[in-house]
Amino acid sequence: MASTANAFSPSLSYNLNTKTKSSTLKPSSPSFFQTRSNVSVRGLCSVELNRGRVAVSRSSRIGLRICASTAELMEAKAPTIVDVDLGNRSYPIYIGSGLLDQPELLQRHVHGKRVLVVTNNTVGAIYLDKVVGALTRGNPNVSVESVILPDGEKYKDMDTLMKVFDKAIESRLDRRCTFVALGGGVIGDMCGYAAASFLRGVNFIQIPTTVMAQVDSSVGGKTGINHRLGKNLIGAFYQPQCVLIDTNTLNTLPDRELASGLAEVIKYGLIRDAEFFEWQEKNMERLMARDPNALAYAIKRSCENKAEVVSLDEKESGLRATLNLGHTFGHAIETGFGYGQWLHGEAVAAGMVMAVDMSYRLGWIDSSIVKRVHSILERAKLPTAPPETMTVEMFKSVMAVDKKVADGLLRLILLKGPLGNCVFTGDYDRKGLDDTLRAFCKS
Ligand SMILES: NC(=O)c1ccc[n+]([C@@H]2O[C@H](COP(=O)([O-])OP(=O)(O)OC[C@H]3O[C@@H](n4cnc5c(N)ncnc54)[C@H](O)[C@@H]3O)[C@@H](O)[C@H]2O)c1
Ligand SMILES: [Zn+2]
Repeated sequence: MASTANAFSPSLSYNLNTKTKSSTLKPSSPSFFQTRSNVSVRGLCSVELNRGRVAVSRSSRIGLRICASTAELMEAKAPTIVDVDLGNRSYPIYIGSGLLDQPELLQRHVHGKRVLVVTNNTVGAIYLDKVVGALTRGNPNVSVESVILPDGEKYKDMDTLMKVFDKAIESRLDRRCTFVALGGGVIGDMCGYAAASFLRGVNFIQIPTTVMAQVDSSVGGKTGINHRLGKNLIGAFYQPQCVLIDTNTLNTLPDRELASGLAEVIKYGLIRDAEFFEWQEKNMERLMARDPNALAYAIKRSCENKAEVVSLDEKESGLRATLNLGHTFGHAIETGFGYGQWLHGEAVAAGMVMAVDMSYRLGWIDSSIVKRVHSILERAKLPTAPPETMTVEMFKSVMAVDKKVADGLLRLILLKGPLGNCVFTGDYDRKGLDDTLRAFCKS
């Protein structure tokens, strides 16, 4: 496992393939899971599963505990648990189908007797009643308020955030309350930031309902809102009490949103998990057809990868930046082409193709990886090139103000070596970047 201690001079390379072993344990009380299947555990950890309670013993050696059940268990609605290890801010991610029908999962993480659910009009119309039920069933002492925000990235702003505070203050919520985010990444980021700042911090639970939010934005504690001059410029690192992923919520997600989230899944394979990429190559059609077991596995594996990176580098001093493969090119597309035209994952997909093309031009990867990336993105119905209206100048002007510019040097995440290895570096031949930009832009 690479060290994160030496910051970035001139570059860091990452080949953080998960070096964890699998073992199997039996739940001590199988009735909790309605099945007697084995539980496989990734990582050097041991796990004890009791009725209504999941106790996970820590591994001090690797600083990360990942405990997961098998696909068979998921069919029986057992939660898979990926545990994010951040010392006293550690929390579990529960993954499975029908988890919103298991009130005890949610209720054990609610602090106090007052809950505020933050959602939007689209997701709230479908899932708010179910979530209120999960919070209150057999738990009459809890009272639940809700605030329904307008749907869309354009509402991820200060004015809309104030509606959350208005509701919390009008409802006289105190420090012992819990905020629950029910929705995609926009709601998760906003509710998390509201929880971080209301009364200087209240408890917070994430119920992500898009693939993007389930595999990426709900994990790792980045919260915030946009400013008119840029995305996610105002925010805080703030970790939830738990993340509850009910994969059934994906049944109502539009196809384009599903594919957009899969771009981030593919990203994890490319930057650090070749085995996972190979699994995706075998299972992309199952994912696109929303096979629940395939989706649950992809979400689990993505959360494991993100949890591992975040637990090693919570505040993005280095390693965490590798999660941005394709994002520098992608942000240029989102900005240059106009937000809302392409979804984030679509821009990231085209951006990953460009990063991979550049890696190949630099001689850092062989052509088979380039072909495999094209092929898997096409199968996921994602773009493999930027919009035709993008010019070299548009890319350069946005990339010049990227957060990863240091001392005038643009650092990029590029693939290097066998599949599953990447570098975050400013130490590359500028001609490689120019050639890539020219190859993908008409002018
Ligand atoms: N915090 C992080 O680390 C992080 C990481 C990646 C992205 N993000 C942020 O996440 C946001 C993008 O998230 P997103 O892609 O989830 O977009 P989103 O939250 O806008 O959701 C996409 C659309 O799907 C709808 N929707 C959500 N769940 C649904 C469901 N189950 N059924 C039907 N419709 C549903 C939403 O109402 C919305 O219209 C961006 O603001 C981005 O900055 C944050
Ligand atoms: Zn992203």
